[in-house]
Order: sequence, then structure tokens, then C-alpha cells
Amino acid sequence: MTDAPLRGEQSRSVQPAARLRGEPRLPGDKSISHRALIMAALAEGRSLISGAGDGRDVQATAGILAALGATVERVGGDGLNVDYSVTSPGVDGLHESEAILDCRNSGTSLRLCSGLVAGLPFFSVLDGDASLRSRPVARIIEPLRSMGAALYARRSDSLPPLVVIGRSQLRAIDFETRVPSAQVKSAILLAGLRAEGRTTVREAVATRDHTERMLRSRGIEVRREPAASSGGGSVAWTLEGGSRLSSLDQLVPADPSAAAFWLVAGAIHPDAELTLRGVGVNPTRRAAIDFLVRMGARISETAIGDVVDAAGGPSSEAGEPLADLTVRSSELTAIDLGPADVAAAIDEIPILCLAATQARGRTTIRGAGELRNKESDRIAGVVAGLAALGARIEVGGDDITITGPTALVGAATQTLDDHRLAMTFAVAGLIARGATTIDLAESAAVSYPSFFLELERLRA
Ligand code: S3P
Repeated sequence: MTDAPLRGEQSRSVQPAARLRGEPRLPGDKSISHRALIMAALAEGRSLISGAGDGRDVQATAGILAALGATVERVGGDGLNVDYSVTSPGVDGLHESEAILDCRNSGTSLRLCSGLVAGLPFFSVLDGDASLRSRPVARIIEPLRSMGAALYARRSDSLPPLVVIGRSQLRAIDFETRVPSAQVKSAILLAGLRAEGRTTVREAVATRDHTERMLRSRGIEVRREPAASSGGGSVAWTLEGGSRLSSLDQLVPADPSAAAFWLVAGAIHPDAELTLRGVGVNPTRRAAIDFLVRMGARISETAIGDVVDAAGGPSSEAGEPLADLTVRSSELTAIDLGPADVAAAIDEIPILCLAATQARGRTTIRGAGELRNKESDRIAGVVAGLAALGARIEVGGDDITITGPTALVGAATQTLDDHRLAMTFAVAGLIARGATTIDLAESAAVSYPSFFLELERLRA
């Protein structure tokens, strides 16, 4: 027996909208929700996490931490977001799980929890669904092994399930990541907490820095060199092992990657005005907003301060900046994005491809190969789906070229069971002529449980 609904039950049909108005509710930031849960499990005592995203990915991390001995309780929520109370015996009180640690569809759970269990002196097995079993793990095995943990995986240590035999005392390393990956960086930094000495992670392109900010807010000194606060450029992160995290209550900002779907919907629809409240605009996460503005999107932004927690106030970069965003119907022009831009907007590339189909001129997205390692091969998936809707979109190697604007026509699209493709094609359906069908549409609930509800509310 399986609890997965039948394929047919999961498909959705989206009709074009005459107008779009309103304030879609957003899930709490997925990246921050995972990290807040993990750090709560590392700190002894009780932490309250308010407004975590209630997608299946974050639920997977919550389940893993419970299996390791933290008491994880859902103390509030509305189906889209959830408040968690996490009571932990502290890192040394966590214990071996009898069952596998089920990451489900979540690459973030897989990579971040590997870094966590590398520093726990027992046997752990991380596994997940069919998509997760195709996600690369060599990128975390290599650094965590050199820190002294033993790791093994299927297909010559390249694919999950992943076995980790951790140690409470690891070796500090100085490591340069090969692919820009905040997940790999975070796994190493989390393991670095259990290492003797100074752990450094160098990245050629700066990736999201939520782990670093959150560690700082919990009393850990994390240094950045060069010390610039904006995204982009090469950067090295260093922390001293052996320090204990303090427990802390955390408010999770709204997810900018979820907001990107509505920013594009509002910009490409001819009669739209949408407002998004309390969106996280961390410099390492806001690239998609900036690219859309560069393309001519009419987005206004009102800063509403930082979610700052502990450790020295706003200038310590321990908090997360927030803003309200309003988007209105726009005339877009093409944009040229290179590999560093792709890394900065790694989760937003599919929806930016949709924006490009409505932009005047030729958009190029170069060096997007990492998209093939996500919940699906997102290059193949987005190109097939948008082409089915009539877009002029081509791939050459890892480069995508889109020529616009093109009037899209509703058709059947395949999501490959990938939440970001499902939401991209649904937004396309709001402007396409006729009905757009989206197979396996319920995959949206991986990161955005109420997505289709919000979509229908906006046209009302
Ligand atoms: C994430 C990092 C990104 C992103 C993922 C979430 C994170 O992955 O695609 O959705 O929370 O650290 P990589 O850093 O591996 O590219």
C-alpha cells in the first residue's frame, strides 16, 4: 500500500485569470526553517520556532530530529506555516535512531543532517524518495570524511542511501567547495562545531548565508573574509569548534523563493497588483528580485527591519532583513545571466525562465548545470514544459536561451514531481490562452502547501 495519491488525482488544470489582485500568503522560508530546527536540536533546552514553512521538506527535518532524540512539538499552525517547540537534551544527549532518517524529497535535510550526524558518535542512515536517491552525495562525503567521520553510499559513494558513522570529536578542515552549494557549506560548518580547532569553508561564489547568521545569533563566532556584507564574489567562512549553541526563539521570514512565483505572476500578467508581506531579502537570497527589476519589473520594496535575535543587534549580521514587496503588471526586457547569477538564484531559475518568455529579446542563462541535480533535471523539465506552452526556449549543454515575448497557449505540462516546476507551469497557466494542465501538481506541497489555494484566491 502507498499513501501517495494516484497520478490522475494529483493533476490540476489552471485557467487564465482576467485580473490578479491581493496578498498571497507565503510559507516561512524553507532554508531558514530547516536550520532553525537543527540548531534547536543542537542547543540544550527549549526553542520556539514561529512561522516555519509547513512543507513536506521541513517536516522531514523535524522527523529526523525527533528520531535522534529531540522533542519536536507542533504548537500552532494553519496548514501553510507551523510553530514548533523543540526541547533538546543538547548535542551530547542525542541518540542513535532505530529507523532510517527519512529525508523524503528534501536535499536540504539530506545534506544538513549529514553534517549534524557526522558529529554524533553513532550509526545513521539517511534515505528518501526516488528523487532523493538520485541526488549527489560525494560532495558531502569528501569533506566530512576528511573531518574523521565514516561515510558510505550507493554507487561508489555517489548516491543515497547514505550511511554515516559519526564521532563526537572531529578534525577541523580548510575546505574549498567545488560547486557553489550552501548545503555543502552548512554541512561542514555544522560538523565544524564538533571539531577541534578552526574550520574554514571557502566558496568561489557566495551562497546563502543563513547558517552563518543563525550560528552567530546563537552565540557562535563565525568570521567572514572578505567581510563585505553583500552577495557575490569569493568568500571564506571560519568558526572555532567546541562551542555550545544557546537555545533561542526564532521567527521565520516569508520565503523569497516562494515569493518569486507571485513576483513573476504579477509582472507578466497584464492586469495585476500583488503584495507580499514580510519577505526575507537577505542579500544572498534576493538575486531573483534584482534580476526581475533589471528586466523592468515594477516591484516596490519597503524595508521593515530585521528579524534580529540575540548576539549584538543588526550590525552583527545575525538577523535576517525583511521587506514588503508589491509588483504590478510590467513590460519586461531580456536579461543575460552567467554561472554566478545562476548560483545566486538557483531555486528561481525555472520561474525566471517563464518571465523571460514574456520579455522582449533574447534571454541567455549560461552555466546552469547544477539545475540538473535538483529534485528533477530542472533544465530538461522547464524547457519541455515551457516549450509545450509555445515558448521559444532552447538548451545547448548547460545554457538556456529564451526568445520573447511569446503568447503562451495552454497545454499539458509534466512537473517530473518537482515542486518548483509545478508552480512555474501553474503561473504560466494564469496568462496562457485556454487550460494548462499540470501533472503531479501536489508536489507543490513540498515547499508551499497552500500554493493552489492562493492562486485561486488571487483571481477572485
Ligand atoms: C538550500 C541550498 C540550495 C537550494 C536548496 C536549499 C539550502 O541548494 O537549491 O533549495 O537551504 O541551503 P545547494 O546549495 O546545494 O545548491
